[in-house]
Amino acid sequence: MISVQNLRKVFSPNIVAVDDISFSLKEGETLCLIGTSGCGKTTTLKMLNRILEPSSGEIHLLGKNILEQDRIEVRRRIGYVIQRGGLFPHWTVAQNISLVPRLLKWSPEKIKSRVEEMLNLVDLSPVEYIDRYPAQLSGGQQQRIGIARALAADPPVVLFDEPFSALDPITRKQIQEEFLALKKKVHKTSVFVTHDVREAFLLGDKILLMKQGKMEQYGTPEELQNSPANEFVRNFIQNH
Ligand SMILES: Nc1ncnc2c1ncn2[C@@H]1O[C@H](COP(=O)(O)OP(=O)(O)O)[C@@H](O)[C@H]1O
Ligand SMILES: [Mg+2]
Repeated sequence: MISVQNLRKVFSPNIVAVDDISFSLKEGETLCLIGTSGCGKTTTLKMLNRILEPSSGEIHLLGKNILEQDRIEVRRRIGYVIQRGGLFPHWTVAQNISLVPRLLKWSPEKIKSRVEEMLNLVDLSPVEYIDRYPAQLSGGQQQRIGIARALAADPPVVLFDEPFSALDPITRKQIQEEFLALKKKVHKTSVFVTHDVREAFLLGDKILLMKQGKMEQYGTPEELQNSPANEFVRNFIQNH
């Protein structure tokens, strides 16, 4: 489904943000990218939807090299969720959710029914929420709209960059459970960045732990737990 080989990103003058990252995911799997702040998680994610161009390496999505495809097309085909949903404050919920469908020039009827479907999917009543602005929503609700927006055009892959880290612990726990339920319903392949080990172990089918741009370990949660590759991995899992 997704295959990433030897991905590397060097920012000028000589900052190696991502250094030789490789992984592969099957359809429906979630990969959690973890590691301390500045280790290269966001940079890795942004190369997957070509917000950033890799310095070297390969990324294949559904068997095709995305680096040879049109950047804008690639971005539209991959959902992207960031902290607080990244909603446009002057747009209503309906306008936010329909961003990509509108770019794809869906008909107004199809867009309206898709917006309603997405609101139902994230458990928000369309009648109540469709015309609200982001400021009229709680943090958890904004995050759910961000997820609805990312799923609206039914992309095969969704990327998440620490989406829940600004939420209070109770809302966070609730939305993590919703994420798991949603995953069963929509079966999306996803890459999920977090610095929270608990969250990574709860949500990830695979985990990639990074340090200073490099992979320390890549495997299932059980593999990291039961056979940590080195002291760093062992400590990271125990202390976070
Ligand atoms: N546009 C940029 N120009 C130069 N350095 C950058 C840029 N973006 C990120 N970096 C550096 O790359 C490293 C990885 O950053 P990032 O991927 O944002 O880390 P994380 O998401 O894991 O906290 C950091 O050292 C950061 O300062
Ligand atoms: Mg980051």
